[in-house]
Amino acid sequence: MAPPAPSPRPLPTHVAIIMDGNGRWATQRGLPRLEGHRVGTENIRRIVRTFAERSIPYLTLYAFSTENWSRPPEEVGGLFRLLGEAVSREVQGLHREGVRLRHIGRLERLPEELQRQIRHAISLTQENRGLTLCLAFDYGGRDEIVDAVQALLKKGVAPEEVTAEALRQHLYAPDIPDPDLIVRTAGEMRLSNFLLWQAAYAEYYSTPVLWPDFGPQEVEKALAAYTARQRRFGALGAEG
Ligand code: IPE
Ligand code: IPE
Ligand code: MG
Repeated sequence: MAPPAPSPRPLPTHVAIIMDGNGRWATQRGLPRLEGHRVGTENIRRIVRTFAERSIPYLTLYAFSTENWSRPPEEVGGLFRLLGEAVSREVQGLHREGVRLRHIGRLERLPEELQRQIRHAISLTQENRGLTLCLAFDYGGRDEIVDAVQALLKKGVAPEEVTAEALRQHLYAPDIPDPDLIVRTAGEMRLSNFLLWQAAYAEYYSTPVLWPDFGPQEVEKALAAYTARQRRFGALGAEG
């Protein structure tokens, strides 16, 4: 008799997305790169709704890396403006839908107005119990680990007290569980300094679809790929 088919695994608790391909999306249409960023920023709303409808508790979106500062100043400034506008435009609606907004990265280097908009959205939504939407903006995985080590040293922690758990507790959002699934749009196969610590046992899913075209059906494909995977965490898994 054939062994029973393995039952599909439950949906992920935390999905993290590297939203890539805005520039290519615009270039393919003969448009300026910032137009791709504008449409890409608008796409965030429908993707947040899709994850909320699927009752996935945590969604992290990589929107600006510590390395993205090396782009031309007009593009960096345009990205800041688009994000600020999106936060101001969407915050009330997200609040009504019970979304809780969080941020990971270095807020203090951003323009003051953008900092203010992000801080306001975080404090307005902090008691919400729906989807936690974590925005990685001016985020770098290496900076995050360095910041955690510095925080430990400042506390005068002894070397033998520097454990994986102690370090984890000093990351930007220690209460948010590690991502189960990391999605990257636009086809690249790299992390680009995203969630280096937290990604240790995440499942990866890369799609050639560019971020502005990544809609609810693409989310379903990524979730289906995830539920079909077998995770072993270094052990032997079901057959073992
Ligand atoms: C992702 O799109 C958004 C950011 C990195 C800010 P890109 O701007 O990287 O788009 P491509 O990779 O050039 O197509
Ligand atoms: C990664 O995309 C960062 C974000 C999506 C915010 P990049 O386009 O910056 O990554 P690389 O340069 O292709 O690695
Ligand atoms: Mg890119």
